[in-house]
Amino acid sequence: MSWKLAVLVLLLNVVIIRTLDNGLARTPPMGWMQWQRFRCNIDCVNDPHYCVSEKLIMQMADIMVTDGYKDAGYEYVSIDDCWMSKERDPKTNKMQADPVRFPSGIKALANYVHSKGLKLGIYQDMGTKTCKGYPGSQYYVPLDAQTFADWEVDMLKLDCCNTGYDMVSGYSVMGSFLNKTGRPILYACSWPVCMGKNANFKLAAKMCNMWRNAIDITDSWDRVHQIIKIYSNNTQHFAEVAGPGHWNDPDQLIIGDYGLSETQQKVQMGMWAMMASPLFMSVDLRNIDPRAKKLLLNKQVLAINQDPLGKQGMRVWIDTTGTLEYWTRPLMSNGSYAIAILNTSDYGMSRHINCTLKDFKLPSANSYLITDIFGGENLGKFGLSDRIVLQLHPTDMFLATAVPMSFS
Ligand SMILES: *[C@@H]1O[C@H](CO)[C@@H](O)[C@H](O)[C@H]1NC(C)=O
Ligand SMILES: *[C@@H]1O[C@H](CO)[C@@H](O)[C@H](O)[C@H]1NC(C)=O
Ligand SMILES: *[C@@H]1O[C@H](CO)[C@@H](O)[C@H](O)[C@H]1NC(C)=O
Ligand SMILES: *[C@@H]1O[C@H](CO)[C@@H](O)[C@H](O)[C@H]1NC(C)=O
Ligand SMILES: *[C@@H]1O[C@H](CO)[C@@H](O)[C@H](O)[C@H]1NC(C)=O
Repeated sequence: MSWKLAVLVLLLNVVIIRTLDNGLARTPPMGWMQWQRFRCNIDCVNDPHYCVSEKLIMQMADIMVTDGYKDAGYEYVSIDDCWMSKERDPKTNKMQADPVRFPSGIKALANYVHSKGLKLGIYQDMGTKTCKGYPGSQYYVPLDAQTFADWEVDMLKLDCCNTGYDMVSGYSVMGSFLNKTGRPILYACSWPVCMGKNANFKLAAKMCNMWRNAIDITDSWDRVHQIIKIYSNNTQHFAEVAGPGHWNDPDQLIIGDYGLSETQQKVQMGMWAMMASPLFMSVDLRNIDPRAKKLLLNKQVLAINQDPLGKQGMRVWIDTTGTLEYWTRPLMSNGSYAIAILNTSDYGMSRHINCTLKDFKLPSANSYLITDIFGGENLGKFGLSDRIVLQLHPTDMFLATAVPMSFS
């Protein structure tokens, strides 16, 4: 198809936005993603161990299997920007992988990842160029969709740099062409984050399996905190549109990296579970701190994240200083809830908390059985008005499940 025809299809789709129906992401997708930890390091000559290459991706896939991440549910191994050659193939116009860093090509890499029982994610951009200046998909949407399908890729993260036109229709066209390939490809969109205040999240939920909706993460508590604030306010009402098949994406996990203290890593893991977020680790799995690994593999937290009801948790209370919050997330089984107490203050003293289940707006029941998830402790039965008393460290959270014992 010529690019003119592609533009025509693009215009037609301004009117008709097709609903994505690929059967994927019934629970928030989980995996590993290159970007936050390895970025665009293309210097395999001086930095062979840390550069973006097929070797790096294969090593991560290996460890995901041998070290229990795959068994815990982490499934996608996702290549990010900077995998391509700077030019398309001059004869076919197809994207091509960098011949030095990905000498076997993407199809071979997909075969390798599939042989491990995992899925391969890849990256492109809806503009003329990717964020780092590699060839983008604008004008090449049908060809690129088919190329990804031919390579047996399982996920596409489509970025929104250098999009000087109505990017929503561009993403919609890509969605249609991905569908036409007949291969189910998880569709991760970035346009809502590029559109900021003008983003229409109902549309995002129709078009994409997941979509970035907050600021980019960096290796810092400050960013994690800012992202949580966006979800906490939920000003654009995006929490309401999340559900099986379509999820808000607050960006990658930085657990095990350099920027977060131990309690702050707990907060990211726990809050990403409350927020029903996709869980993409971005960490060097080859030498991860054992405590970070344990956190990433915490079955109880993952069960909350992956709860099949797929309802995103919401903030139900915040104090006047804006540093103490209560969150509630309804779970699938029998009227259960996940509840969280979050203290985002970095004043360095621990804080005495004294609250009741009423504060979490739980419905009436004779009592709830409370289980402290990070402490791994059953705290016993609590009526709605019984006091829950605990001590919370700075930038720390309490995460628990509340299972109704009997209904009144
Ligand atoms: C394409 O879309 C149709 C209808 O929306 C859906 O039934 C089908 O499963 C989709 N196929 C893929 C591969 O996504
Ligand atoms: C959240 O809401 C508070 C209070 O309305 C406001 O001061 C703050 O700027 C908001 N923050 C974000 C990130 O939306
Ligand atoms: C719900 O409760 C019933 C009766 O207490 C129990 O048999 C069933 O296993 C529970 N379901 C889940 C999903 O926990
Ligand atoms: C918790 O608050 C209640 C009501 O204000 C009070 O009666 C109780 O003594 C407090 N308990 C603790 C341990 O702080
Ligand atoms: C949060 O904890 C800090 C100590 O780190 C404390 O100074 C602050 O008052 C707490 N915030 C609230 C609202 O309790």
